[in-house]
Amino acid sequence: MTDDAILQLYPNTATLPLKGLYLGHELRRLATQTPFVYANFVTSLDGRIAVPDQEKGGMKVPPQIANGRDWRLFQELAIQADLIITTGRYLRDYAAGKAQEILRVYDDPRFADLRAWRTAQGLPTQPDLVVVSSSLNFPMPEALTHGGRRVLVVTHRKADPQRVRALEAELGQVLTAGDERVEGRTFVQLMGEMGYRFIYSAAGPRIAHMLLADGMLDRLYLTQVCRVLGGTSFSTIVEGPPLEVDLPLLHLYYDPYVFDGVGQWFACYGRREAVVI
Ligand SMILES: NC(=O)c1ccc[n+]([C@@H]2O[C@H](COP(=O)([O-])OP(=O)(O)OC[C@H]3O[C@@H](n4cnc5c(N)ncnc54)[C@H](OP(=O)(O)O)[C@@H]3O)[C@@H](O)[C@H]2O)c1
Repeated sequence: MTDDAILQLYPNTATLPLKGLYLGHELRRLATQTPFVYANFVTSLDGRIAVPDQEKGGMKVPPQIANGRDWRLFQELAIQADLIITTGRYLRDYAAGKAQEILRVYDDPRFADLRAWRTAQGLPTQPDLVVVSSSLNFPMPEALTHGGRRVLVVTHRKADPQRVRALEAELGQVLTAGDERVEGRTFVQLMGEMGYRFIYSAAGPRIAHMLLADGMLDRLYLTQVCRVLGGTSFSTIVEGPPLEVDLPLLHLYYDPYVFDGVGQWFACYGRREAVVI
């Protein structure tokens, strides 16, 4: 086995190339009545997805777990979407130069094959973006609307009307999905009515909670780097009131090569099995 491969352990064993692993899940062939919604996280063994950024403030993905092999798979998931969910928090960090570039692949030469894949499917160059925000307090960077990409904003009925008007003037439309916060079911239904069928959450633990609490997350892709980080201030994959959602294992892979042999698991969990069309 060479370092361009990984081991599949479930549902059966095989050695597979890393490149193409998640494209091979063929998400666009999975049909559900509501849009198919999936999310992805990279975490440490002790469940840290974000830790304080000592230099720039706020939180960031721990550099001890961020890695190119996981990043490749993140992009393979993103490229299959019609719509990517992001947040007001992410756009504030982006504007402040604190955020990792997660929402565009069109000018990154490492992902030229993914762009070609998208073109071959007859899909627009990039998935559209939806910003979920309560505060509506974020700038919209030109880089993210590049090439005519559509950006939607979704908030709730208690949002500041002045901010709603300002964003409507800038972006055209601000949608509501909920009374005091954006609610998962209303949000996903609304996106479905707008024609979006495959929705990828690149957001964090509160959006994960919003989706899980309403039974709206079809798949969770979870990379777990075999490294313990500790620390008392951190985020994990879900934040919000207690909930109980079963997500049975659908696929499990082991990548022994990351960080000079530290290793990582690529797991895929599913709330329900979608129908392959
Ligand atoms: N390790 C990983 O794989 C991974 C993946 C994703 C994110 N992260 C990390 O997680 C941290 C948080 O990420 P995030 O801010 O994108 O995600 P988040 O915690 O899911 O969302 C936070 C922001 O989204 C808006 N929001 C969330 N739920 C809402 C609801 N129900 N109604 C209305 N607005 C809602 C709010 O924006 P407003 O404040 O504008 O109201 C809120 O501040 C970051 O440090 C990020 O680096 C790590």
